[in-house]
Amino acid sequence: MALSTDVTIKVPAAAVAANQPIHDEIAQPSNKLIEQLVTQHGAPLMVLDCDAVRCQYRALSNALPGVTLHFALKPLPHAAVVRTLLEEGASFDLATSGEVDLVASQGVPSERTIHTHPIKRDADIRDALEYGCNVFVVDNINELEKFIAYKESVEILVRLSFRNADAFADLSKKFGCSPAMAIEIITYAKQLGIRIKGLSFHVGSQTASPAKYVSAIEACNLVIKNVAELGLPALSTLDIGGGFPVPYSKDVLPIDEFCAPINDALAKLPDTIRVIAEPGRFIVASCVTSVASVMGQAVREGKPWYYLDDGIYGSFSGLMFDEAAYPIDSLKQEGARVESVLAGPTCDSIDVVSDAIMLPKLNNGDLIISRMMGAYTLATATDFNFFKRAEVIVLNEQIQSQVLTG
Ligand SMILES: Cc1ncc(COP(=O)(O)O)c(C=O)c1O
Repeated sequence: MALSTDVTIKVPAAAVAANQPIHDEIAQPSNKLIEQLVTQHGAPLMVLDCDAVRCQYRALSNALPGVTLHFALKPLPHAAVVRTLLEEGASFDLATSGEVDLVASQGVPSERTIHTHPIKRDADIRDALEYGCNVFVVDNINELEKFIAYKESVEILVRLSFRNADAFADLSKKFGCSPAMAIEIITYAKQLGIRIKGLSFHVGSQTASPAKYVSAIEACNLVIKNVAELGLPALSTLDIGGGFPVPYSKDVLPIDEFCAPINDALAKLPDTIRVIAEPGRFIVASCVTSVASVMGQAVREGKPWYYLDDGIYGSFSGLMFDEAAYPIDSLKQEGARVESVLAGPTCDSIDVVSDAIMLPKLNNGDLIISRMMGAYTLATATDFNFFKRAEVIVLNEQIQSQVLTG
């Protein structure tokens, strides 16, 4: 899905020079800047700050030394994010031909990509191969057989399933196989002459505890040993997926602390194993601030209802399936707060962003600011009822290249 990249703005925020230490707190666009942007562009807006993308990428790189980070495009497939991460030296995780097109259009070298959708059409495989991406994921025999025709050019990761009911999205419910099935796939691949590069897993998005990664790494280590004992071609790669958590309304462990036990588990892998990861949410959640304006209001059953120009079918689409409790507040801070309802603009009754939020009395045109809106928001927004998606305003994209060339 192509997201609109409408406006790029350079603001004198904290520039993040190459290799500069990470600042702990990501600077958020100030209220003054938000008001200026709305005056210029109207609302709703999604304000995307590339400095936050850099900070998060560097924080996770530092927390997982030696692990190659492939940014998973799906939470925010935006060209400015791709360009920013490309400059940072990131690699990329693709799942569709649309994502292939996006990275190709931004000049990402294909060697820096992997294609990790476990279930693909032949056309998806061909599109990726044509671009030059040759690492794919399978989790069953039927999928493996799709690669017979391409066996000279592909390398395969076998995805294992580790269920995680606590994650926002338990991705192992839909994808992945057991360790026994992984051995079956690897054995059959040898017969077919298809190269198996290694194993992968995804412990579930927004996983609160590193214990899930640790047990998954231990289980994969056993499979790696088992493969060697069976005389099958040695595996060279372990892909530990995405799932790294961010603080929405609840605190999460700082990323260094979160990754410490993961690094301990990785240290027990054979030295020959190269480790990669596919973080999505962690890199982009904090880089977008959404700005919506009040387009009308009513009092219903004694409660103020404010109708916004953005809602569940737009930038807040993640509320339907992602359980993310975005920090939401009015730009206006003065006045006594009462329990209020924030509704989206469409005619559908489920289009309610919050049915119990403490707000001061708002006027039509007042602004509602929501932070941490970068992951699985714009990417899943629709044009339902012909309400246009929020315009994307890109901040701080150029500062990095100015620092590098200056
Ligand atoms: C295969 C794969 N990799 C990576 C990701 C990114 O996960 P997260 O955003 O939780 O880091 C996803 C999310 O759905 C995924 O399906």
